Amino acid sequence: MADLSIDFCGIKSPNPFWLASAPPANSGDQVMRAFDAGWGGAVWKTLGDPIVNVSSRFGAVDYSNAKMMGLNNIELITDRTLDANLREIREVKKRFPKHAVIASLMTETKNDWKVLIKKVEDAGCDGLELNFGCPHGMCERGMGSSVGQEPKLLAEITSWTKEFAKTPVLVKLTPNTGDILEPGLAAVAGGGDGISLINTIKSIIGIDLDRMVPIPRVGTGSSNGGYCGPAVKPIALHMVAALARDPNIKIPISGIGGISTWRDAAEFIALGCTSVQVCTAVMHYGFRIVRDLIDGLDRFLNEQGMKSVMDLRGRAIDAYKEWGDLDLNYKVVAKIDANKCIGCQLCVAACQDGAHQCIFTGPNDQKRPPQAHYPNDMAIAPKPQIVGKIAGNRVPWVDEPECVGCNLCQLVCPVDGCITMAEMPEDKPETWNDRVAQGRDKQPGGIHD
Ligand SMILES: Cc1cc2nc3c(=O)[nH]c(=O)nc-3n(C[C@H](O)[C@H](O)[C@H](O)COP(=O)(O)O)c2cc1C
Ligand code: SF4
Ligand code: SF4
Repeated sequence: MADLSIDFCGIKSPNPFWLASAPPANSGDQVMRAFDAGWGGAVWKTLGDPIVNVSSRFGAVDYSNAKMMGLNNIELITDRTLDANLREIREVKKRFPKHAVIASLMTETKNDWKVLIKKVEDAGCDGLELNFGCPHGMCERGMGSSVGQEPKLLAEITSWTKEFAKTPVLVKLTPNTGDILEPGLAAVAGGGDGISLINTIKSIIGIDLDRMVPIPRVGTGSSNGGYCGPAVKPIALHMVAALARDPNIKIPISGIGGISTWRDAAEFIALGCTSVQVCTAVMHYGFRIVRDLIDGLDRFLNEQGMKSVMDLRGRAIDAYKEWGDLDLNYKVVAKIDANKCIGCQLCVAACQDGAHQCIFTGPNDQKRPPQAHYPNDMAIAPKPQIVGKIAGNRVPWVDEPECVGCNLCQLVCPVDGCITMAEMPEDKPETWNDRVAQGRDKQPGGIHD
C-alpha cells in the first residue's frame, strides 16, 4: 500500500481526506464515527458566538438523473454552545490522538480571537482554520467573506491569530473575489501556515414560481446562499492551481470544492494540494465514501509507481499555462468508430448547429445537411434511439480537413470510445506569444504606436 499519510505544516494525518467545516463535522459523535469509517482529519464546524439558524436552509440543483449536482445553503456557523463543542473536541482527541482535528473559527475583535484560540487549543485541537469565506449572514455582521474580500483586513486578522496561536493557522478563502491571488498573498503576508479553499460561492439556487420566492424558502422570503458540490469543482480547481503555481505561495494548500471521488481528490493533489476536504458528498452519501477515496487513491498511486501522496502532489502544475503559451500548431480531428456507433445523430446536431459544420450522415461523396433536428430549447438531449449495434447508414462521417478539433461531438456522444480525437502530424510548435514576439500578431494592451 502507498503511504497516504501527510504532514500539513506540522499537522499530521493518516491520510489526506478531511471533513470540511460543515454539518458533517458539527459534533464529537459525528467526527468520531467519521474517524472510525476512515477519515484522516476533520475541520470542526465553525466556532464562535453561537447563532440562530433559519428553516429551511438548503436548496439543490438536480441535473438529468443526478441529484444534488450543486447544493446551496443559508446556514451560519455553529448553533451549539462553545462549551459543548470544546468538551467534544477534547473527547475526540483523546480517542483519536493520531487524527487531525482542526478548529474552524470566526469571531470579531482581537481580544475575541485571543480568547477563542486559547480555548480551542486548550481543548487539544491540532490546528486552526480561519473562516474568511462564509458568503451569507455572517458577512452582513462584518465577518466571513467580508474579511476574505479585503486582503488588508485578512492579512491583519491573520497576523493577530499568529500572535496568539501555538498551533498552525490555516486561512480559508472565499471564491467570491476577482483574483484569488490577492487574498492568497494576503494570507501569506499575515503569516498563515496554510491555505484552505474554496468556501461556498454566493448564489441564488432557484425560484419557487408558485410562490414567487427564492429557494430555500423561509416563510415568505429567502436570501442568497453559498453554492458547493460537484458543480463547483472546476472553479475550485482553478483557484487552487492559481495559488499553487505562484512562486510566492510557499505554504501548503488544502483543496475543497466538489470532491466526491478518489479521482477528484487526485486531481486536487496533482494541482498542488496536500490535503483535501469534503462536505457535500458526505452530506449526500455519508461517511462511508471515504473507503472508496482511500482504496482508489492507493490503487492509482501504485499503478503510477508513486510511493506516497507527496509523489503526486503538484505533478500537473507545470502543465497549467497561460493561453498565450499553448501550441497553436497542435491539431486533433474527430474519428468515429462505425462498430460502436448507434446512429443517434447527436454528434451531427452538435457539430452542425453548435460547432463547425463538418459531420454528416449519408454518402460522403457530397456534403449533406444534417438529418437530425432537435428543438432549440431542449436543455438535455433525448435518450438516443438504439438502432442496433451497428448503425448502418446512420453512422455519420467527419469531413476531416474542415474539423477544428473542438471535441464537442466527442462530449455529446453517448457511447464511450465511439468518437476519439486523433492527433495530426504537427508543424513546428508555435505559440501566440511567439507570434507577438515576431510581430505577426498584435501586442496585448490595445493601443500601440
Ligand atoms: C450546509 C453547509 C454548511 C457549511 N458551514 C460551513 C462552516 O460553518 N464553516 C466553513 O468554513 N465552511 C462551511 N461550509 C463550506 C464547506 O466547508 C465547503 O467549503 C464547501 O461546502 C465546499 O465543499 P463541497 O463542495 O465539498 O461541499 C458549509 C457548507 C455547507 C453546505
Ligand atoms: S471536433 Fe468539433 S468541428 Fe470536429 S467534427 Fe467534432 S464537433 Fe465538428
Ligand atoms: S453521437 Fe456517437 S453514437 Fe451517436 S451518431 Fe454520433 S458517433 Fe454515433
